[in-house]
Order: sequence, then C-alpha cells, then structure tokens
Amino acid sequence: MDVKFENVSLAYEHKSEVLHDLRFVIPKGKLTCLLGPSGCGKSTTLNLISGLLQPTAGKIFFDNEDVTKKDALARKVGMVFQNYALYPHMTVLENICFPLKMKKIDKKSRIQRGNELAQLVHVEKELAKYPGELSGGQQQRVAIARALAKEPSILLLDEPLSNLDARLRVEMREEIRRIQKQTGVTTVFVTHDQDEAMHVSDYIMVLNNGKIQQFADPNTIYDYPDNLFVASFIGNPVINKLPFSILSHEFSSVIPTTIDKKAETLLIRAESIVPARDHQDHVAIKLQGKVLAVQRYGHEMFVRLNVNGQELMVTGFKERDLLEKQQMLEFTLRTNGVFIADSDKAIIWNATSI
Ligand SMILES: Nc1ncnc2c1ncn2[C@@H]1O[C@H](COP(=O)(O)OP(=O)(O)OP(=O)(O)O)[C@@H](O)[C@H]1O
Ligand SMILES: [Mg+2]
Repeated sequence: MDVKFENVSLAYEHKSEVLHDLRFVIPKGKLTCLLGPSGCGKSTTLNLISGLLQPTAGKIFFDNEDVTKKDALARKVGMVFQNYALYPHMTVLENICFPLKMKKIDKKSRIQRGNELAQLVHVEKELAKYPGELSGGQQQRVAIARALAKEPSILLLDEPLSNLDARLRVEMREEIRRIQKQTGVTTVFVTHDQDEAMHVSDYIMVLNNGKIQQFADPNTIYDYPDNLFVASFIGNPVINKLPFSILSHEFSSVIPTTIDKKAETLLIRAESIVPARDHQDHVAIKLQGKVLAVQRYGHEMFVRLNVNGQELMVTGFKERDLLEKQQMLEFTLRTNGVFIADSDKAIIWNATSI
C-alpha cells in the first residue's frame, strides 16, 4: 500500500506551523526513511501517517482511499517506538500474540502465528521469557514481531534503534532490512542518523524545518544533492564548504560562464580530494595545498589541508601518498562529490556533468 500526502500542513494547538505543505508518495512495499535533525518534524510526519495526529490542512491517502479523517485503529498501522513498550507481565510469546488475541483469533492459530513471527525476527528461543529478561535488541525484535502480528497496512518505526549500543544498532538495522524484504510490508523508518538511513533505505526523505529537502534513493541523495542542506547533512566527514571565489580561477576552465556568475559556495567531499596522479574520472584541474595535520584512525586517514587560506578535510589520500612528508601537496578532484551552490543554497552545478 502506498501513502500519499497532498499539501499537508500541521500546526500544534495554539502554536505556529511545524510542517509546511508536504507533498510526497511513499511507495508500496519499500522501506522509506524520514531523515533530519532533531525537531525538524519527523515524528510529527509519522504520527500523521499513523492517524495519531490530524493535519491542519491537506489530505492523506492510503492507495486511493482518503484516510485523512480516520484514526490509527481504522488505518491498521503497526508502530514501533524507541522505548519498546512491551507488556512486562507477559511472556515474549504472549506479547507477540496480543494483537491476535484482541482480534479474537483462536488460541491454536494464535500460537502458530506467534511462533512463525518469532522465527522471522529470531527470538524463537526466548518465547517463555519476560521482557525484563531480554537484551535491548531482543526486546526490539519482539516489538517488531508484535507490530507485524496485526498484519499492518504499513509498519511505522520511530527511532527504533536509538536505545541500542553502536554495534547492536548496526546489527539490528540489517535485521530490519531483512525482515522488511522478507515480509514486503511498506515501512517508514524515522532516524536522525544519516549513516543508518543510507544503509537501511530504499528511499530517503530528508526533512529540515518542516519542509522536504529531497526525496530519492540513497545514492542519488549522496551523488546528486538538491541543495546545500542535503549535501552537508549526508556524508561523514561533513562535506567541505568554501566560498567559490577562493578557487574560481581554477574552476573557470571547467564550468560554464552562466554557472560562474551565480556560484557562491563550492562543496567538495573529503574522499573526492585525491592525488594529482589519479587521472580517471577527475575534474581537469590541478590544485595545491599545504598539509596542516595528518591523523590516522585505524583504516582511515584524515589530512587537513590549507588551500588558499581555507581548511579542507581530505580522506582521498593513502599513507604512501604522503611518505615524503611534503608540505605542499598536489591534488585533483574526482568528478563525484564536487558541487556548486548559488546564493539560495540550491545546487546549480555537479562535476559529474562535465
Ligand atoms: N505536542 C506538541 N505540541 C507542540 N509542539 C510540538 C509537539 N510535539 C512536537 N512539537 C514541535 O514540533 C516540531 C517537530 O517535532 P517532532 O517531534 O516532529 O521532531 P522530530 O524531527 O521527531 O525530532 P527528534 O529527532 O528530536 O525526535 C518541534 O519544533 C517540536 O518542538
Ligand atoms: Mg522524533
């Protein structure tokens, strides 16, 4: 089932608007992430999908059905929150089967379905335990199984992994991916973690200040950001930003004059700054910078470069490239990950267009 928002706005009571004219379609059978900084309106958007909130203006459709006025129960959504909210006095099996009991499904079928769901989320060995006896990751698996027991029209997950430690987060995001693929249930996943969104999604909706910044698949968002916010929010280390004027002379040979006139900010991903000898898929310009510092973190090497008075973070060099401890470093740019923004913060040029 797909979800469509038509010109949806929302203001909480007596407060100013927090979501402005949202228009989007969440495609059926896919996993879509709502990604953005704290307070941008992710949970509010999710609650509008679920029916826990009603829009101030606009319409919401599930497939072609207008559900704007329907509540959460009528919309048959399954929800999982950050805090697992399992029933502490019920066993794992009873927790998973609870929605089936509410639907008055007979005990034998309930237990059979509960066992199937437990296998799907890999908690089949914990069925007799109580939530208090489970790890955070196991509790979240049970919460997902319980949400799926309803056979929801759509599965909504609000920061489901933020209570878990780093390693478990990575493991569980793979699990959510697997469970979503296996069941094919349309899923919306809220996170403020760009890395999590990049790894788990079919599509990402980037939100900021209650507005959609971009809605596309993860690699499109990374390689073709629509604006400065998206380019900066996605990627680690954060993309380098510098006034275009600093390198306008060097770029004049590769960009059209129409772009040159409007160019305000140059954006360069750290991994796109590479040794000058690399000639494949590069922007045909040679640049120089002074090495300020080299830091190694395991397999990663971060070089801080001073280029015409601006500091750039560089990860496109290997240790062997710096063996001579040269102070001046010659470098070039890969075509992937180099953008120009105008004064409205829109990306107006992408080096892949060369
Ligand atoms: N019940 C409420 N009443 C009034 N304002 C609210 C209410 N809930 C949220 N807001 C405001 O609406 C805006 C969006 O909040 P929302 O909870 O959707 O953000 P979020 O993106 O989920 O943030 P986080 O990542 O911190 O969970 C914020 O400015 C918040 O202060
Ligand atoms: Mg939230």
